Amino acid sequence: MDKQLRLKEKIKEQYGKIAIDGNSNSYCVPSSDCRGTSSESLFSPFESSKAVGYDIDKLKLIPENSVLGVGYGNPTQFASINEGNIVVDLGSGAGIDVFLAANLVKERGKVIGIDMTEDMLKKARENAKKHGYRNVEFRQGDIEQEIPVEDNYVDLVISNCVINLTTNKENTFREIYRILKPEGKGRMVISDLVTSKEIDADFVSMENWCSCIDGALTKENYIDSIKKAGFANIEILDEKLYMELEEDKEGKGIRQITSISIKAVKE
Ligand SMILES: C[S@@+](CC[C@H](N)C(=O)[O-])C[C@H]1O[C@@H](n2cnc3c(N)ncnc32)[C@H](O)[C@@H]1O
Repeated sequence: MDKQLRLKEKIKEQYGKIAIDGNSNSYCVPSSDCRGTSSESLFSPFESSKAVGYDIDKLKLIPENSVLGVGYGNPTQFASINEGNIVVDLGSGAGIDVFLAANLVKERGKVIGIDMTEDMLKKARENAKKHGYRNVEFRQGDIEQEIPVEDNYVDLVISNCVINLTTNKENTFREIYRILKPEGKGRMVISDLVTSKEIDADFVSMENWCSCIDGALTKENYIDSIKKAGFANIEILDEKLYMELEEDKEGKGIRQITSISIKAVKE
């Protein structure tokens, strides 16, 4: 099996386990991060989500099991979601941002969550059914291969801490571009992690990639991938230092990992 496939399998295994356990601490909270925590301290998913910008009162209005504490930003906060919008959430996990968006688009709108991990989809669909959400749908797909949504269909694409996990960011942004409505009517608002220095391929660890660290691009390369996909009006909406860690196994230098929220428009 080649490295890319092994990585995908590992991502599915780890996020599948999080879906079943409902506990993200072992995978997604690094040993020393900007919330001043250590991996030993157990964070509830609600506390983790509050720390990255979610409003607890809004979280109380969505299925509790959809909040896993695995995001590093809050795209819905910046997305100006309107009633009637068609929204797609990439790497939707157990559905946190899908349900937050669904409460805003109401019955006239629709929110489609996409994830490649079977157990995440199962959990998200159970959440939707149990809580009677009729304006949401969860589809299986690998977002860097093909997003299972038709061309020029979507008002808004959101995503929280997922694109860094893909091995070909440019393809992912091209797929997002394809499904958005043209002529300035379609936009994306993405929260993700970027790095001050991309790690040398020899030092990439599967575990760190799955924890959203080693697959991160520099902010410049991230923006460049968005531009190459055809997007215009690229705007950084939020930027926070998330953690610092040693650059490589020999401890040379420091890598800064930053959480960003970014908006771009399909012209
Ligand atoms: C860090 S979690 C974030 C989940 C959710 N956005 C949240 O904030 O709770 C990453 C999610 O992306 C999914 N994922 C990773 N790579 C993917 C890909 N290439 N295509 C589709 N889903 C992917 C994983 O299965 C996992 O559910």
